[in-house]
Amino acid sequence: MQELIESALARIAAAHTIDELEAVRVEVLGRKGVLAGLSRDMGKLAPVERAERGKFINSAKQSLESAYDGRKNEFERAALAGRLNREWVDLTIPGAGPRPGALHPVTQIQWEIEDLFRSMGFTVLDGPEVETEFHNFDALNIPPDHPARDMQDTFWLEGGNLLRTHTSPVQVRGMEKLGPPLRMIAPGRVFRNEAVDASHEHTFYQLEGMMIDRDVSVAHLTYFMKTLLASIFRREDVTVRLRPGFFPFVEPGFELDIQCLICGGSGCPVCKHSGWVELLPCGLVNPHVLRMSGIDPAEWNGFAFGLGLTRLVMMRYAIDDIRWLQSGDLRFLNQFRTAVVR
Ligand code: PHE
Repeated sequence: MQELIESALARIAAAHTIDELEAVRVEVLGRKGVLAGLSRDMGKLAPVERAERGKFINSAKQSLESAYDGRKNEFERAALAGRLNREWVDLTIPGAGPRPGALHPVTQIQWEIEDLFRSMGFTVLDGPEVETEFHNFDALNIPPDHPARDMQDTFWLEGGNLLRTHTSPVQVRGMEKLGPPLRMIAPGRVFRNEAVDASHEHTFYQLEGMMIDRDVSVAHLTYFMKTLLASIFRREDVTVRLRPGFFPFVEPGFELDIQCLICGGSGCPVCKHSGWVELLPCGLVNPHVLRMSGIDPAEWNGFAFGLGLTRLVMMRYAIDDIRWLQSGDLRFLNQFRTAVVR
C-alpha cells in the first residue's frame, strides 16, 4: 500500500500538463480510484486493522491531495504568468495622441498676403467657384466670340455655368456689391481645362486685387506691387518693370517683371539670362468694365492685378513640379509645418 501511494506521489510530481495531472487524480483519488479501492474492502478487516487502515488512508489522502493541489497551483501560476507576459502593456510609453495639423503652403502665403493688404485698407472678398458666364467673361469685356476666351480653357457645366477660370469675377461681384471707392483682394481656387504637366494643373490658386478711386495711376499700381513683392520676398526693395500685355479687362495692360532675385539682374539660369522674371499681369481697369458693373468711368478709375499663388509658392520654395502641391503626400507637406498663428 505504501508503494502504491509513493508511486502515485511520484506521478503527480512528474505530470507535465494539467491534463496529465487530472488523469492521475482520477486514477488515485477518484471514486473508482486506488484510495477508494483500499477503503472498499475495509469492512472485511478486523477492528484493529480496520482502524489502522483508516488512519493510513486518511493520511495518504491528505498527502496526495496536498501534492495534487501544489502541482495544480504550479500549473495555474505558470499559465497566468504566460498570459501576463503575452498581454503585457507598457503603460509608461507616451500615448500616440492626435497629430496637430498644419497649414498648406498655399494657405500660408495666402494669409500672409491677406494680412498685408488688410493693413493697407483692402477688403478680402470671397466668391463662388461655380460662376456664371457673365461674371467670368462678359462683365470682364470678354464677349462670347472674343478670342480672349481661348486664353483660358474652360470647364463648362450643364446649364451654361462654368468653373471660374480666374478670380476676376469676384472683382466684378465686389464692384456690383460695394461700389466705389473700393480696395479689395480675392484669393481663391480656379480651374482650367489644361493638359497636366510639371507646371500646369487643372486646379490652382490665384489672388487678384483691385483698387477703384479717383485719379488712380500706374504709379499707384507700381507702388502697391512693389510693396507686395518686397513683403513676399522679404526684401527692403525690389525693382520691377512693366511690359505691355493684353487682357480685355484692363487698358493699358501690363506684364510686371521683377528683377531676378537670384542674380540681381546680371543673368542666371533662373531668369533665363535675361535678368528679369515675369511675375504678374496687371493694368488699369478698362472703363467699359467699370461701366458694366455700374461705376461711372468719368468719375472713377482703378487698377487690377492677378497673382498666381501656386506659382509664387513654387518660386519661394523652389518646388519643381506643381503636382506636388495637390498630391496630399505627407512627405512633401511635412516640410512646411511652420507654426502660423493668427
Ligand atoms: N484674370 C487674369 C488671369 O487670370 C489675370 C489678370 C488680373 C490680368 C488682373 C490683369 C489684371 O489670367
